[in-house]
Amino acid sequence: SNHQFAEMLRGHEEAATFYQRVFAFTEEGNAGREYASQRGFTNEQLTHFQIGFAPNGWENLATFLTKKNFTEASLVQAGLVAERDQSEGVYDRFRNRLMFPIWDSQGKVVGFSGRLVGEGKPKYLNSPDTPIFHKNKLLYGLHLARASIRKKNIAVLLEGAADVVAAWGAGVDNGVATLGTALTEEHAKILRRNAEHILICYDSDSAGQSAAFRSASLLEKAGCTVSITTMPEGYDPDDYIKAFGAERFNSDVIGSGQTVMAFKMKYLRQEKNLRDEGERMSYIEEVLEELAALPRAIERDYYLRQLADEFSLSLDVLKQEQYRMYRETK
Ligand code: UTP
Ligand code: MN
Ligand code: MN
Ligand code: MN
Ligand code: MN
Repeated sequence: SNHQFAEMLRGHEEAATFYQRVFAFTEEGNAGREYASQRGFTNEQLTHFQIGFAPNGWENLATFLTKKNFTEASLVQAGLVAERDQSEGVYDRFRNRLMFPIWDSQGKVVGFSGRLVGEGKPKYLNSPDTPIFHKNKLLYGLHLARASIRKKNIAVLLEGAADVVAAWGAGVDNGVATLGTALTEEHAKILRRNAEHILICYDSDSAGQSAAFRSASLLEKAGCTVSITTMPEGYDPDDYIKAFGAERFNSDVIGSGQTVMAFKMKYLRQEKNLRDEGERMSYIEEVLEELAALPRAIERDYYLRQLADEFSLSLDVLKQEQYRMYRETK
């Protein structure tokens, strides 16, 4: 109902303020402040993204909100607390975590992503889906980044909140992320409504690479043109900025996106020893197959020539072979 809706929104607003106050002004906030400074978050980043801290206890938030006349049932429904198993009452869902508020497209807080301070599992805990929070269509940071995304006609798609915050600190103000879920068709449509171009900037590990392929294909289906960044193996944007600085992040990562096809070719090469003739042939065939599926003739021709040059092959032969493959798939 409308009333429940409003209660959930009010609860999140109060909770965000609570976490921010604990972070900024209290003794219990020490652990959070130390962690944030160790991660290199500046005051500007902390303020812009309203980052807070959930203290390490079972009912800090629950007590605070109950005193503000929230019913336990409404807090459970909002996903801010959970029902106890063995006894009556509720407990705080987020404990000992750096808290990133999640906003809807209008800038209302509708959930949280909490990064555990220290070791343990899960590393990130996100709010559950509720009537006000739908992971499948929410992009973290969109309301902050929207104006820039529209102006630049490009959005940078990152893996998580910490990457969006780090990228923003490096001057990238058009970054958004999905939270604890793969990109959906819905996300892709929303992005397309705001920009034509998308730069995928996922982690440079195998999970990030395969996710990049998946997201790229959904985004292309939604009508976006897509590029993908590359970083040294094992880095994510946040690590990269810490290791190499903002300037190199802008020039060598954000400014050096590759087409999905170039990214695919690099990926196909990784698993092969191109000095081996047999593996070289299978690489060429795999690339041809991928190329045959490209809708744009210019792009097809561009990579076909590149392939011909690199392996000293005749363009005619490559075209014939590609035509044969194309026929076979019909
Ligand atoms: P990563 O696994 O890349 O986080 O998850 P990370 O870069 O190692 O984390 P840090 O830098 O140590 O803090 C990327 C995103 O996937 C989601 C979160 O949204 C996270 O930001 N995720 C990850 C979860 O939802 N749960 C997890 O346990 C881990
Ligand atoms: Mn990780
Ligand atoms: Mn990752
Ligand atoms: Mn990461
Ligand atoms: Mn990281």
